[in-house]
Amino acid sequence: MALLDGKVAVVTGAGSGMGRASVQVFAREGAKVVAADVSGAQKDTAAEVGTGVLAVHCDVTRESDVEAMMRAAVEEFGRLDAVCNVAGIGDAAKIADVTMEQYDRVMDIDLRGVLLGTKHAIRTMLECGNGGAIVNWSSIGGLNASPATGVYSAAKAGVVSLTKTAAIEYAAKGIRVNCVCPGYIRTEGMGAALDHFPGAADNTPMRRLGRAEEVAEVAAFLCSDRASFVTAAVIPVDGGRVAVIP
Ligand SMILES: NC(=O)c1ccc[n+]([C@@H]2O[C@H](COP(=O)([O-])OP(=O)(O)OC[C@H]3O[C@@H](n4cnc5c(N)ncnc54)[C@H](O)[C@@H]3O)[C@@H](O)[C@H]2O)c1
Repeated sequence: MALLDGKVAVVTGAGSGMGRASVQVFAREGAKVVAADVSGAQKDTAAEVGTGVLAVHCDVTRESDVEAMMRAAVEEFGRLDAVCNVAGIGDAAKIADVTMEQYDRVMDIDLRGVLLGTKHAIRTMLECGNGGAIVNWSSIGGLNASPATGVYSAAKAGVVSLTKTAAIEYAAKGIRVNCVCPGYIRTEGMGAALDHFPGAADNTPMRRLGRAEEVAEVAAFLCSDRASFVTAAVIPVDGGRVAVIP
């Protein structure tokens, strides 16, 4: 029996990087998956995997889109067991140079988007009555600081905080909420420039960048029944990077 046999999952940011990898890993492990993105590339991800994946357009900052995405899972596949809130963007500005446009954009996608994804995952799971598991994508930036990522890090620290709060609020209802904190992960989008980022691999104890599927595998475990007593956990998936004194 596969890890996620019989489960129905929603994955945001499914057109690229760790979202795309999560759709692939969850489908391989037997889940039916709603693959959601704003870019259109969710259709390519769904086509690559084949049957059992429904591509849905969703801008995670729009509450009506997020509600419709959860509804699509129930209408197409009959239930909702797992939600991965992966969609996110980066920023690059020192604190004294941050613009409010940049602040709004990063906070909207990286924090409001995860709040909406968590809120409507919980509501839909409560309606379905089978419990469920949510995995939110924070970052090692949410646990520590690096120059020119202040707003991003603040949003990702917010993800850690709201993950823990949601976890303790809904634990008794059988809904587990955890977050992963990726380190430097090579992806088509945000992680594309990391090969040229000084120290990204060298300052990681494992001396390499991570692969998108290495984070997706942890999310699959967290959404499986094997993680049945794991909630409010904050799990770095970073080759040891966040443990190092800079
Ligand atoms: N790559 C890294 O090294 C790294 C490290 C730590 C944390 N993260 C976090 O992991 C997550 C995934 O990163 P990645 O490198 O796989 O990213 P990526 O850029 O490869 O993919 C992100 C996806 O999110 C989608 N997206 C952006 N805005 C959206 C919106 N408003 N609604 C719906 N979808 C939207 C994009 O279209 C894209 O397909 C992000 O939250 C990111 O902050 C990445």
